[in-house]
Amino acid sequence: MAAVTQAVQEALPLPDLYARVKGHVPAIEWPALAEDVAAIQMLKRQRNAVVLAHNYQAPEIFHTVADIVGDSLALAREAARTDADVIVLAGVHFMAETAKLLNPEKTVLIPDQAAGCSLADSITAADVRALRRSHPGVPIVTYVNTSAAVKAESDLCCTSGNAKAVVESLGVPRVLMIPDEYLARNVQAELPQVEILSWAGHCEVHERFSPADIREVREAYPGVTVLAHPECPPEVVAEADFAGSTAAMQDFVETRRPAQVVMITECSMADNLAVRNPEVAFVKPCNLCPHMKRISLSKIRRALETMTHEVTVPSDLIAPARRAVERMLAVRP
Ligand code: 13P
Ligand code: SF4
Repeated sequence: MAAVTQAVQEALPLPDLYARVKGHVPAIEWPALAEDVAAIQMLKRQRNAVVLAHNYQAPEIFHTVADIVGDSLALAREAARTDADVIVLAGVHFMAETAKLLNPEKTVLIPDQAAGCSLADSITAADVRALRRSHPGVPIVTYVNTSAAVKAESDLCCTSGNAKAVVESLGVPRVLMIPDEYLARNVQAELPQVEILSWAGHCEVHERFSPADIREVREAYPGVTVLAHPECPPEVVAEADFAGSTAAMQDFVETRRPAQVVMITECSMADNLAVRNPEVAFVKPCNLCPHMKRISLSKIRRALETMTHEVTVPSDLIAPARRAVERMLAVRP
């Protein structure tokens, strides 16, 4: 391990930070991570940079270097507000692209360019154009988990946190909600008065959960509260006590304070909540997102040291894709 410089040592009280993550980071691993944390804090000041971290980032990122944390909607809102010169997106590529759309003049970095998303990979701009031709006049609501090229072909975006409100805001009888089939079907269950057509895209993390997983956990932990993400199949959501975005799940835990809870979503979600809610028992199962897990402290440090990997959006896509995101941000849930 390289020596920690005095400036780095002075950057922040590292032992305080370890107290936050010690349930998730073995003591033997902390010195190496602490050096990255201190270097990142220093680089953030030098570069006037902020780190935005999604709720699925590992606790050693989420609780030590992130300036703004949240679900996709919160990260998009905060990206639109920041006055930093540099945004490091500790999340996946579509989140960094959304930040860039909202801040075309700023430098947006992603620590690992391969941090993708199975939903974003499930549909292309040509697919959206074909859908528009085959469904003339039907508004296209596109999940933010898509490329800028797909957003640019859409009427407006949504996240799992505002999908229902976005569809309602249109006031039409028929909507295309793409590309997450399960999110569309889950919103359909809440809005029977609107016909919601979809696409066969799935989240590779949430599609792996089954109703049997939930029944097993209820048997093993009687009385457990089950929270599910709406990217899960509808049969899974039907077995849950509550379904909502990662921010909505956090809100449920922090306001309702269940004694025991299972989060049917990505594993770091519960780990991050456990740090702030030690009296709540979080039980498995959960699944890891391999894309989110590509981001590490050492890659965030490298991103800030080398100012890579810069996320760019072709100039002809910025205005139409941004318009779809901004129309979404104007909808109040
Ligand atoms: P949220 O918007 O609920 O944070 O979800 C994003 C995501 O990628 C879930 O898989
Ligand atoms: Fe995409 Fe699913 Fe990973 Fe979220 S959890 S980034 S939807 S693959």
